[in-house]
Amino acid sequence: MTTTGLFITFEGIDGAGKSTHIDSLAQAFKAQGRSLVTTREPGGTPLAEKLRTLVLNDPMDAMTEALLVFAARRDHLKQVIEPALARGDVVLCDRFTDATFAYQGSGRGFDLDTLSYLEQLVQIQQGVEGDFVRQPDMTIWFDLAPEIAAQRLAGARVPDKFEAQPVEFFARVRAGYLARHDAQPWRFARIEADQSREAVWQDVLAAFRQKGWLSNGSSDAGGLA
Ligand code: TYD
Repeated sequence: MTTTGLFITFEGIDGAGKSTHIDSLAQAFKAQGRSLVTTREPGGTPLAEKLRTLVLNDPMDAMTEALLVFAARRDHLKQVIEPALARGDVVLCDRFTDATFAYQGSGRGFDLDTLSYLEQLVQIQQGVEGDFVRQPDMTIWFDLAPEIAAQRLAGARVPDKFEAQPVEFFARVRAGYLARHDAQPWRFARIEADQSREAVWQDVLAAFRQKGWLSNGSSDAGGLA
């Protein structure tokens, strides 16, 4: 069993259906004896969860939003993510910086160069071979047409600030994810989310098996009962 930490993030527009698969993956890793942390952004620490409440509910301009999500991210990295990776844990994180590029950048039109600068500033880490910018080892991108996501979200619950946005906003967010994917394709697994939940799960599993991070035969049922 490897003791190298793994940083896995999950992305997609609202309604793409990340949550059940994150839970199933947590079970699959635990079944293989891996220590695991499941967490989310914005959030994951008491301070970052307070910032999440502000970002998801209070109207603010796009720069303020970007600064708050990066402030939350900094605390999250320092308190939770980096210590877990140093222990050799698997970190399953529901959203990370790709969401900032997609939502604050493409969705709300905030300057992408400034986001790149903040990304470098906030995610810098000291490694044995010098400083590096922390990035996910793999990002599972649940890709779904915004019209289908909107149907799934309709009436599901009281929408937060982002979920209440029109379909055009999510078309821009999706384009933002595509741009991130195209810039760093090696870390992305793009999953076609417009399939049955079981088919999506099989695609997610395949991405992990291909990397050798989950063994064949693990969790075929995927907690889909
Ligand atoms: P989401 O991850 O969908 O959680 P839940 O399933 O509880 O609704 O919601 C988080 C929202 O925050 C989502 O609409 C995207 C948004 N977000 C940003 O705008 N920027 C960010 O950097 C992050 C991490 C999230």
